[in-house]
Amino acid sequence: MGRVAIVTGGTRGIGRAVSEALKDAGHTVAATYAGNDDAANAFTADTGIPVYKFDVGDFAACADAVARIEADLGPVEVLTNNAGITRDSTLHKMTEEQWSAVIGTNLNSVFNMTRAVIGGMRERGFGRIITIGSINGQKGQFGQSNYSAAKAGIIGFTKAVALENAAKGVTVNAVAPGYIGTEMVRAVPEEVLKTKILAYIPVGRLGEPEEVARCVVFLAADEAGFITGSTLSVNGGQYMA
Ligand code: CAA
Repeated sequence: MGRVAIVTGGTRGIGRAVSEALKDAGHTVAATYAGNDDAANAFTADTGIPVYKFDVGDFAACADAVARIEADLGPVEVLTNNAGITRDSTLHKMTEEQWSAVIGTNLNSVFNMTRAVIGGMRERGFGRIITIGSINGQKGQFGQSNYSAAKAGIIGFTKAVALENAAKGVTVNAVAPGYIGTEMVRAVPEEVLKTKILAYIPVGRLGEPEEVARCVVFLAADEAGFITGSTLSVNGGQYMA
């Protein structure tokens, strides 16, 4: 059954693949983005999926955007918290700005967006909250104390909110990708990517965004109602949580 679905950061990278896969599965999708108008316009031209521009780290902006999306498309039944950034640095060199930017966009956003949709989902007795975590929240990563903390926080958030909403028809799960061939991963210094990352992926390659997207579609399905509080790892065998 088609549902109204939001994908944050849904115009590029993993988010784009999720937006397209949810649409292909019959859902009515709204994709959000923060700043890259050219990419967002190209995405809408290619897919026909409407886009909404706001900062997911801003609580009031999230509430306002959800209200606009609901006015345009109807009550939100599926939320994919995907928006994320990196500001990699070892902790001893990390600035407060690098720390706060990543916590704001990758973790506070999950509270902001989930808080905006959860009341309606509980009232209607159906909801799917799916948050994109990371292998680096499960195992830690050199140069990513900010990102690893945010992504580990997602796992705790997912379990707590799953418990609170299990009796209301709302499931809450995380998907934890490993290294996927997106702009974010291609920004990693080439030598580090080759010697410190690719060398440790048993499948022997980066993942594809579509390989993550299909997990989101699976968890978003009406038939997935007995799966809640889980974290599904998609990492080519790099880390087995
Ligand atoms: N493991 C072990 N050692 C590492 C390492 C790693 N992953 N990365 C770097 N080092 C080592 C270097 O080899 C180097 O050692 P030597 O001095 O002995 O040569 C030392 O640490 C310092 O490295 P740099 O010169 O690169 O130091 P820097 O301060 O300029 O940069 C860094 C450090 C920011 C961490 C940089 O190495 C970096 O960007 N690394 C990549 C971090 C990463 O993997 N990010 C993931 C992004 S993708 C993502 O986040 C998506 C997802 O969910 C999976």
